[in-house]
Amino acid sequence: MSSLSNRRVLSGMRPTGRLHLGHYHGVLKNWVKLQHEYDCFFFVADWHALTTHYEDVRIIEHSVWEMLVDWLAAGVDPSRCTLFIQSQMPQHAELHLLLSMITPLGWLERVPTYKDQQEKLKGKDLATYGFLGYPLLQSADILMYRAGQVPVGADQVAHVELTRELARRFNHLFGREQGFAEAVELALLKMGRKNASMYRDLRKRYQETGDEEALGTAQAMVRDQSNITIGDKERLLGSLEGLGKIILPEPQALLAPEARMPGLDGQKMSKSYGNTITLRETPDEVVRKIKAMPTDPARVRLIDPGQPDRCPVWPLHEVYSDERTRQWVQGGCRSAGIGCLDCKKPIIDAINAELEPMRQRAQQLEANPDVLHSLMAEGNAAARAVAEDTLDEVRAAMGLKYR
Ligand code: TRP
Ligand code: SF4
Repeated sequence: MSSLSNRRVLSGMRPTGRLHLGHYHGVLKNWVKLQHEYDCFFFVADWHALTTHYEDVRIIEHSVWEMLVDWLAAGVDPSRCTLFIQSQMPQHAELHLLLSMITPLGWLERVPTYKDQQEKLKGKDLATYGFLGYPLLQSADILMYRAGQVPVGADQVAHVELTRELARRFNHLFGREQGFAEAVELALLKMGRKNASMYRDLRKRYQETGDEEALGTAQAMVRDQSNITIGDKERLLGSLEGLGKIILPEPQALLAPEARMPGLDGQKMSKSYGNTITLRETPDEVVRKIKAMPTDPARVRLIDPGQPDRCPVWPLHEVYSDERTRQWVQGGCRSAGIGCLDCKKPIIDAINAELEPMRQRAQQLEANPDVLHSLMAEGNAAARAVAEDTLDEVRAAMGLKYR
C-alpha cells in the first residue's frame, strides 16, 4: 500500500549497555548508511526493555547512555537523523493505548516472539499485560512516525507484519471522513484539469484490472503535487485504492543485509556467550583477545598443518580480509607455512583500524556527557513535534478532538 512517507525510516534498539562488533556489523553500519539515503529516526526502546527487565530497573538509564555513546561513536550522526529516547515521548504511550482498543487479543497471542521469549526466559514471569503488548508498543513506535521502512532483523518481521495489519484496520475503521468523495473531487480540482483526468484514468485502470503500474504512477503523481495539502494527498492516495483517507500508512520491513558477525569462539558474537569485542575495546585488549582465540585443534605445533574451516579465526578473515590475504591463510595454514599468530595479525590490525575512530569519538563523548544530553534533548523535541502531528490526526479520527 502507498505511503506518503516512504522515505521515512524508523528503527529502535533496546538498551543493552556497551555495544560490540556484532551490533556494529549487524545493525549500526546499516543505520549509518541509511542516514544518508533516508529520513531516519532511530530511538532507544527503553520501555521495551522494561517489559522483560522490570525487576532490575537500576541499570536502564546507564545502559541507555552507554549505548548512545556507541551509536554516535559508530558514526550515527545526529545532524543527519533524528535520535530520541522512547520513554521521553509519552505520545507513544497514548498511541499504544488508542491502538489497543482495536487490537484483537488473538493477534498478539499469535505473534511468535510471545511464546518463544516466554520459553527462553523461563526464569522470568512474563505473563504480564505489558509483555503481551510488546509488539503493539512497537507498532505504535512505527506508526507514530508514519515510517515507510523499518530496518529489523528476521526475528522482528512478524512485528512489522502486525503493524501493517493494525494500520489497515485503523484506516478501515477511522479513515472514513464524512464527505470523503467530495473532498477527493475538490482536491482533484486543485491539481489542474490535465492531472486530474490522468489521475482518474490511472485509478480506473488499477481498480478495474489491478494494474500495479498504474497505481504506482498515480501515487508518484500525487506525491509530486506541490500545490495540495498533506491531508489532500492522503485522501487522493486512499481513494486510489478504494479506501478512505490513509491516516497511518503501512510500513515495510527492511531486512538488513544478513551479517553474521562471528565471535571469538566461532559462535555468533553475543554478550551472553562472552565472546565479544566491544566498540570501545583498547588496542591492547584487542590484541589479547584475538591472541587468546582457539584455533584448529589439529595445529598443536607449528609444523602441524591445519584447516581453516575448522578454525574460529577463519570466519573473521571472511569479514575482514581481502582475497589475497585469504589465499595466504588458506595456503599457509594447510601447509603449516604460517603460524597461528601470523594468521591472526591481519585480523588484529583490521579490527583496530576499524575501532580507532570509534574510540576517539567515544572518548570525546565520555569526556563531555552534557553534549550528549543536549543532543538527545534536541532529538526528543524534534521527534515529539512529528509525533504530536500524528496524534492530532489519530485523536480526531477517533472522535477525541476536544477544543
Ligand atoms: N523490538 C525491537 C528489538 O528487540 C526493538 C524495537 C522496539 C523496534 N520498537 C521498534 C525496532 C520499532 C524497530 C521499530 O530489536
Ligand atoms: Fe586457524 Fe589461521 Fe591457525 Fe589455520 S593458521 S589454524 S586458520 S589461526
